[in-house]
Amino acid sequence: MSLVPTADLVADARAHGRAVGAFNVICLEHAEAIVAGAERAGLPVILQISENAVKFHGGRLAPIAAASVAVARASSAAVSLHLDHVEDDGLLRQAAEHGFGSVMYDASTRPYADNVEATRAAVTWGHERGLWVESELGEVGGKDGAHAPGARTDPGEAAEYVAATGVDGLAVAVGSSHAMLDRSAALDHDLIARLAAAVVIPLVLHGSSGVPDDELRAAVRAGMVKVNIGTALNIAFTGAVRERLGADPKVVDPRKYLAPARDSMTTVVEQALRVLAP
Ligand code: G3H
Ligand code: ZN
Repeated sequence: MSLVPTADLVADARAHGRAVGAFNVICLEHAEAIVAGAERAGLPVILQISENAVKFHGGRLAPIAAASVAVARASSAAVSLHLDHVEDDGLLRQAAEHGFGSVMYDASTRPYADNVEATRAAVTWGHERGLWVESELGEVGGKDGAHAPGARTDPGEAAEYVAATGVDGLAVAVGSSHAMLDRSAALDHDLIARLAAAVVIPLVLHGSSGVPDDELRAAVRAGMVKVNIGTALNIAFTGAVRERLGADPKVVDPRKYLAPARDSMTTVVEQALRVLAP
C-alpha cells in the first residue's frame, strides 16, 4: 500500500465516519510499531514527527524522516507522513523535500491576529507544494509538561479563523491536554459538535493519550477526524524496558529490551486504531 497523502487518509476517514490515528515517531522502533499496529488492525495510519523529536535528533529531520518513509513504503497498510507542531519556519520549509504529505503549523501560543497571519502564510506555502496543512486555535495545554485541560476553542472564532487562513484541518481545545500519564480527560462533546458544525474542515484532537476509549468514540461521533497519540506509546515503551531490565540486570543487548518495547507499542496502536474506527 505504501506511502499515501495525508489528505487522502483524512478524507477517507471523514467519509466513513471514523478518525485516522496519528502517532508520534521518536525512534525507528516507534515507526515500526505504528505501522505494525496498522497492519494488524487493517487500517490506515499517520506517522508524525514533531519539531521536538527533530530537536532530539540534533535538529536533523532527514534521517528520521527517511527511516519513516522507508518503513511506510515497506508496509501493506496505507501510511502517510506528517510533520507535527512546527513552530520554526525553517523546519516547515523542509517538509516538502522529505516525503511529508502534511504539516501542522503551530502558532497557537501567539495572539489571534499573529496566529492568523503566520498560519495563512504557512498554508499558502504548503498548498503550493501539495501539502495538507493543519493548525491550532485555542492552545491545547500540556506541551511544557503541565496538565492544562481548561482551554477551549470558540466556534465562532474557529469559523472566522478557518476562512481567514485557508487551513485544511483544525486542532481544537476541547478538554484534552498533552502528555497525560493517566486516561482521565473528560472532553466537551457538545463543544466538539458545535465546532464540527461551525467549520467546514476536519477537526483534530491533540493530547489523546489522556482520553479514555469511550470518550474517544464519542469524540469521533461528534466530528473528530484526526486523533493524535504520542505519550501512550512512550508509556508502553518505557514500561516494557523497565520490566525487562528489572527482570535481568545482566542484559546489555538493546534488542532484548527494544523488542518487547516495540511489541508493547504495537499493541497500543492496534487497540487505539480499532477504537477510532468503530
Ligand atoms: O501532536 C501530538 C499529540 O497531541 C500527542 O499528545 O502525547 O498527549 O498523546 P499525547
Ligand atoms: Zn499535539
